[in-house]
Amino acid sequence: SDNNLTLKINGKLFQMDADPKMPVLWAVRDMLGLTGTKYGCGAGLCGACTIHVDGKPARACLTSLSQVQGKELTTIEGLEADKLKRAWTEHNVPQCGYCQSGQLMSAAALLTTNSKPSDRDIDEAMAGNICRCGTYTRIKSAIKSASD
Ligand code: FES
Repeated sequence: SDNNLTLKINGKLFQMDADPKMPVLWAVRDMLGLTGTKYGCGAGLCGACTIHVDGKPARACLTSLSQVQGKELTTIEGLEADKLKRAWTEHNVPQCGYCQSGQLMSAAALLTTNSKPSDRDIDEAMAGNICRCGTYTRIKSAIKSASD
């Protein structure tokens, strides 16, 4: 049909019959079962749904399937960033954990383009990821310890 779309996520191709206007968030969570990407606000305000599109952070709640045709998507399930993940564990970053996959996706994208970010760089890159538990200090420590 006209709505036969292809998604490339975490290195795999998926065909889906879906509305091209559908947010990637719903395709990822409900159609593909990749539930590590979280629904927070649905309006681009919280960052819980952050994924990578061609390596750059993007809000899956505001990104439509049509916008990612031919692009490479990465979700938390496919994120490599081992050093960053280890730092997250060592610094006991999560509290409730809900926002943390989005936090990790934003942090990983930052370190890809800036391997030694300053405090200000970190603040700017992470400003769109809200944490209601207030884990910001530990997030910053973990990013710094993973940077070199
Ligand atoms: Fe996408 Fe909040 S759910 S930014």
